This record gives sequence, structure tokens and C-alpha cells, in this order.
Amino acid sequence: MCGIVGYVGKRNAQEVIISGLEKLEYRGYDSAGIAVITENGLESAKFKGRLSVLADYLAEHPIKGTTGIGHTRWATHGVPSDENAHPHFNTAKTLAVIHNGIIENYQEIKAMLIEKGYVFRSQTDTECVAHLFDLYYDGDLLKTAFKVNSIIRGTYALLICHRDSPDEFVALRNEAPLVIGYGEGENFVASDIPAVLEYTRQVAFLENGEIAHVTADGVTVYNSKGDTVKKEPFTVEWTLEAATKGGYDHFMLKEIHEQPQGIRDTINTRIDANGYIKLDDIKLTKADIEKFDKIYVVACGTAYHAGCVGKYVIEKLAKIPVMCDIASEYRYSDPFVDDKTLVIVVSQSGETADTLAALRESKRKGARILSITNVVGSSIARESDDVFYTWAGPEVAVASTKAYTTQLVAFYMIALNMALAKGTIDEAGYFELVSQLKNTADLLEEMLKDDSEEKEVASLIKDKSALFYLGRSVDMQTAKEMALKLKEISYIYAESFAGGELKHGPIALIEPGTPVIAVSTQTALVEKMVSNIQEVKRRGAFVIGIGCEGDTLLKGVCDKVIYVPKVDDLLAPLVSVVPGQLIAYHTSLMKGYDVDKPRNLAKSVTVE
Ligand code: M6R
Repeated sequence: MCGIVGYVGKRNAQEVIISGLEKLEYRGYDSAGIAVITENGLESAKFKGRLSVLADYLAEHPIKGTTGIGHTRWATHGVPSDENAHPHFNTAKTLAVIHNGIIENYQEIKAMLIEKGYVFRSQTDTECVAHLFDLYYDGDLLKTAFKVNSIIRGTYALLICHRDSPDEFVALRNEAPLVIGYGEGENFVASDIPAVLEYTRQVAFLENGEIAHVTADGVTVYNSKGDTVKKEPFTVEWTLEAATKGGYDHFMLKEIHEQPQGIRDTINTRIDANGYIKLDDIKLTKADIEKFDKIYVVACGTAYHAGCVGKYVIEKLAKIPVMCDIASEYRYSDPFVDDKTLVIVVSQSGETADTLAALRESKRKGARILSITNVVGSSIARESDDVFYTWAGPEVAVASTKAYTTQLVAFYMIALNMALAKGTIDEAGYFELVSQLKNTADLLEEMLKDDSEEKEVASLIKDKSALFYLGRSVDMQTAKEMALKLKEISYIYAESFAGGELKHGPIALIEPGTPVIAVSTQTALVEKMVSNIQEVKRRGAFVIGIGCEGDTLLKGVCDKVIYVPKVDDLLAPLVSVVPGQLIAYHTSLMKGYDVDKPRNLAKSVTVE
């Protein structure tokens, strides 16, 4: 997703913007650009490719000024190219626009502007905003922003600066995140907090429909009607270090290793003096819980896989029927949602467009919304009735790891509380699971001390063109997540199958040498999985088992077994996913790929 940084103050804007855009690289992008107001007017540079291409150019050809805007683009309308990179300009190149999102009515605006003689240089939807500003600009940038805001439709975070208003810029927000950073004699606007953290910890989010007028002396925020909105900045407690690599080669590896801490932070802040889970941030009462006749879990990607485990856990513990759906499908499926439905939306970023849309559709139908998210103040958090924050810390690598395990923790805690409220678990069972859940952090810490087995598996699979994961019951969900992890960063075709489904088709894909990773942690199903392993072995597969310590069966049939600590069957997904994350990481590394920024993917998908 695009990254946006705007600056006005006394510093060299170019430096602030490039440094801010570097902190937003995790969002994924294909080109980068900058516009700064200088004594010569508006100067700019933009290039297809990595941010370093732009930075290297600027090192040779610096642009000097103290007001400017910069952008990393993740293409939606128009291919990645120098022309389509942002900023976009009016014909006279007196104003510059950067944008994250999609202007849905750009075609009709473009037609109107062409009729008036405007000539378009790019294939983007954004360029129409530049010409629209040009059409209405009469020397008052803020007034023009209100006019343009009333015409454009869609999702947008927009920053606009003008040569003739050198000490200000404006920011418009609708459905795409923007955060204001408040400094002393300088101010910032960006897509995410890390971009401004080097300069200030005082931040506030812009809400939908709001327009910010930004100068060095202050930021005034207006709603779409033109009324002033009072913003209460809050202090960011986490450090920039927490959002940078901290000694690890890659964010993904760092984040895999941060899982024990993320799990601890997520659990420990919610256990009271008597050992009970206390979900202060969720206001669901016993009566509310009893009223729900079903639960929908809605999410995308890895968060969806966490939701699939969540479905299993809630059904097992709290005996409430749960449907788990992919957000982009759910929205259009006319789901059976009403005021007796709890909808749990799961999203690391809290900004995923499909998940947000599913939340709104559920709300419209009268459901109560509980979100599980990692980003405080994100759109999903703000629009939910209740929020369970996972305290995983910022997740930067595109491949989600610590967000997933902390999302599982959230589901365990929610399910345990529901079960206790409904009386579907006794106190002894409850305390046993709470205690084991807490202990998983230590278990993961131990596991992460040695990844030699996963490295060995990576070396065995790295040159294969396809790989299959098998699992039964909740292990099937872990298999799905492992397959997603491998395919997104190693580009190996990876698919997961339910063990029992093999004979119904997938086994036709097995040929001599095909690697198969079989996840088998469920006590009652190990023998069944052993049969499935034998089926694929007979067709020549090379099988790597992922089983629990103490196993005697898997090692008899697999070519290799990676053991994870034995925990209650219900909690097994929390430990068994880790080898899958490490296998994916090492495979990508051995293939020489960009582990943290895989091709074609963005960290935060804020368009449908
Ligand atoms: O921010 P979200 O959790 O809503 O993101 C959902 C997916 O886009 C995300 O999990 C994606 O699948 C990851 N790249 C998986 O590693």
C-alpha cells in the first residue's frame, strides 16, 4: 500500500521525507517520488523502483526547501512507471498531489477536465485530483481542499502542496489512514506512526471526511462541513527500535523471535490477581454471550487462518456455532447476520479494506462487533463495539508471524471466558488451560533457540517446484497457514489438504520426490495421519512430519520429523506453526529472495 509523508517546518524537507518513507517501506511499493517547495517554485523527482533510486538521485541533485510531500506507490491504476509514480501535478506544475487509495469517480472527473482542456500525463486516478485542485484554486489551498473533497469519491489519503502557499499543505482522509505528528515549530502527516517517530511522539489520527491544514506553527483539523475538530494528541509509547530490525537480518526473523514476548504481553496484561482472564476492553456481559446464537469470524489471509483456529476453539470450549469466512467473500454472500450474531473481525493492521467493509456490512445488519487487531486506533478498532488488542508490537515483514500467534492467544482467551460465563467448562479445566496458555511463551522461547532442523528442511525443499501440507482437524488450519507462509516468500507452489481428502483427488499430484509436510499434533488423529502419510509415501513422497514430543508413530513412517513441545491438543496450533514459519523464512533466504518484501505483496491491503 502507498506510503505518504508530508512535512512543514525548519528542517530540510527532503531528508525528513526520505527518512519517513524508509520507515513505510514495509507497506510495499513499486515507485517513489517527492515534491518540495523551493525558492525556484515546486521541484520534484520520481522514479519507478526502490526508494533508494530516488534517494540516490536526490543525493546528487538535492532539492532544498522546508515544505514538501513524498510518496511510495503501490500500483492500482496504471503500471508501475516514472510517469505513474506520485506526486502528480497540474499542467503548470505549481501544485503537487500524493494519494493512497482509489478515486472511484475519477473517470467522470477526468472526462469533465478533458472537456475543459486539461491534458493528462499519467494513467492514474490520482492525476484528476491535481487538475481538479488547479480548476478551483484561487489562492486559498484550504478552501480548494473543501471543494475538491465534496467532488471526489472513494478511498483516499491525500496531501497537496502549492508553490504559491509555500508554508502549508493540506491533508484529506477518507478510508485510508493518516496520522498527524505534532512537533515544535514543525508538523508532519504520514500514513503510519514510524514515519514521524524520529521527530515526535505526539500524534493523532485523522478521521474519515476530515481535512487538516498543516503549517509549521500548528495543525487545524476540520470536518467535511468546515467545523473545527479538536484533536487530542496521544503519546506513542513504543520505540522506533521496536519497528526496526534490532540486530536481526530480517524483520520476519525478528518478529518470529518476538512471539514469546508478544504472547506474554497479550496474556499477562489480562490476568487478574486470582488467575482469571479479565477482558476489560471487552464489555460483553454473560447475558450478551448467552444471547448470541452464532458467531461469524471474518478476516483475510493469515488473520483468516487464525480465525479458523478460533472457530475450532470457540466451538470446542464455549459450544457456540461459529462460521469463519474470508472477508472479501463474506461481504457479498448475504450472511445470516442479525442482532443475535457476534461478528469477530481479525486484522493485524486494522486497515484491511475487505475486512473493514465486512465489519460495516455486519454492523448494518445489527451484529455486535468484536475486533482483534494489533494497531491501536486503527479504523477497524475505532469502528468496533469491542476491541481485543494483541500486544505483538509493530509487525513490519509482509509475512505475518507474531500477529498470527497473538491472534490465536486472543481467541483462546475470548473462548475461555465465554466458556466460563456459559458454564461449558469447569474451573479446574479453565485454570489448567490458562496455565498452559501462559506457558506457551516459554515453550516458544525454547523452540526458537535452535532452528537447524528447519534450515535442513529448507535446503531439502528449496529447489522443488511444489510442496504439499497435510493436516487433520485443527492441524489442517495450521497446514493452511504454513502453506501461505511458504508460497508468499519462497514463491514455491504450496497447497494444504485435509488428510482425509487425499484419496478424493489431491493424491494424484504426488510423484516420486514430492515433498509433503504432515502436521500431526492431535492425539486422537495421529494414527489416521500415519495412514495418510503411508498413502503418499507409497507414491514416492518425501515426508517431513511435524509432531509432538513423545511421539512414537510418526518417526516410523516419516523421512524426517520436527518435534514441538507437547501441550493440550487445543493449544497445539500455537506451537506447531513455528516450524512452518522458520521453514518458509529459511527457504526464502536460501533462494535469495527479499524475505521481508516479497514480490507483488503489500503489508497492508487498503483497497478492495
Ligand atoms: O492486516 P491484516 O491482518 O488484515 O492483513 C490480512 C492479510 O492481508 C495478511 O494476513 C496477509 O495474508 C499476510 N501477508 C500473510 O502473511
